Amino acid sequence: MKKFKDMVDNFLLHLSQKPLFPKLYRDALFYTVLNPGKRIRALLVLGAASMFSDDISCAVPVAAAIELMHAYSLIHDDLPAMDNDDLRRGKPSNHKVFGEDMAILAGDGLNTYSFSVIANSDLSDAKKVKIISLLSEYAGIYGMAVGQAADVLYATNRLKCDDKKLVNFIHKHKTARLIQASVMIGGICAGVKEEILEKLSKYGLYIGLSFQIIDDCLDVVGDEKKMGKKKVDNINNTLTYPKVYGLKRSYEIAGRLYDNAIREIDGLDGCEVLLNLAKMMVERDR
Ligand code: IPE
Ligand code: IPE
Ligand code: MG
Ligand code: MG
Ligand code: MG
Repeated sequence: MKKFKDMVDNFLLHLSQKPLFPKLYRDALFYTVLNPGKRIRALLVLGAASMFSDDISCAVPVAAAIELMHAYSLIHDDLPAMDNDDLRRGKPSNHKVFGEDMAILAGDGLNTYSFSVIANSDLSDAKKVKIISLLSEYAGIYGMAVGQAADVLYATNRLKCDDKKLVNFIHKHKTARLIQASVMIGGICAGVKEEILEKLSKYGLYIGLSFQIIDDCLDVVGDEKKMGKKKVDNINNTLTYPKVYGLKRSYEIAGRLYDNAIREIDGLDGCEVLLNLAKMMVERDR
């Protein structure tokens, strides 16, 4: 796992060192990217790829590209117009350092740069098209972007619907889709068959949903210092699992989703990395 993380971190560092004018924009682009995150999504890409291929070097730029996409989502999520969160990865949020204007543009830049990094990787054209197609759906209007829209519309009283249905919709889209895409993209890099891709897809969706439920629970019981971000869900009127189901039931649901995820991949050759990642994702305290 450490080896995978280092590969991705080195690649991200390499991207950040390419010259770009104006330098202040480059700094804003890579400030959040290079602050140490857990790199869960990149690890899922490489973990899934490593199950089916001995050489995962082609998947490293793609794993890094997903982290660029994820960093964009964090920068925009923290903006005053969204969660208004001053702290991210233990440091002042992007807009606190570079201003809202640069933070918005850093997010915009990272979103499209992510596709550029994939397009310039050494994968076959067929794999690149599959990956770009999936990522554009699941980070965009059929995934993270629409989930964030529903999240913010609810929080500002512009969207009413059955809370249980809505919280499931929001979490599935704002968080689970990008995680699901990460696992599937790892499989695509390794050229897996349709039936394996289907298993990876289900594992990713289950574990992605449980990941956001745990995030919600940590917003209640977690330690802000450890998490490196502020607890803002109550202040923002964000719809969360603990709000809808209570804390105990939320942990139970996350546990059930974890079991479902494990069941999808258990027994496949080399599944240990994904089993370990799933465990880390639900047992984490940050
Ligand atoms: C935070 O994601 C945003 C959510 C979707 C819950 P992570 O918990 O993976 O954040 P980092 O990348 O480790 O900072
Ligand atoms: C964020 O959900 C989902 C994203 C797409 C970034 P949250 O708003 O709960 O994430 P945190 O708690 O700020 O990391
Ligand atoms: Mg949010
Ligand atoms: Mg937030
Ligand atoms: Mg949260």
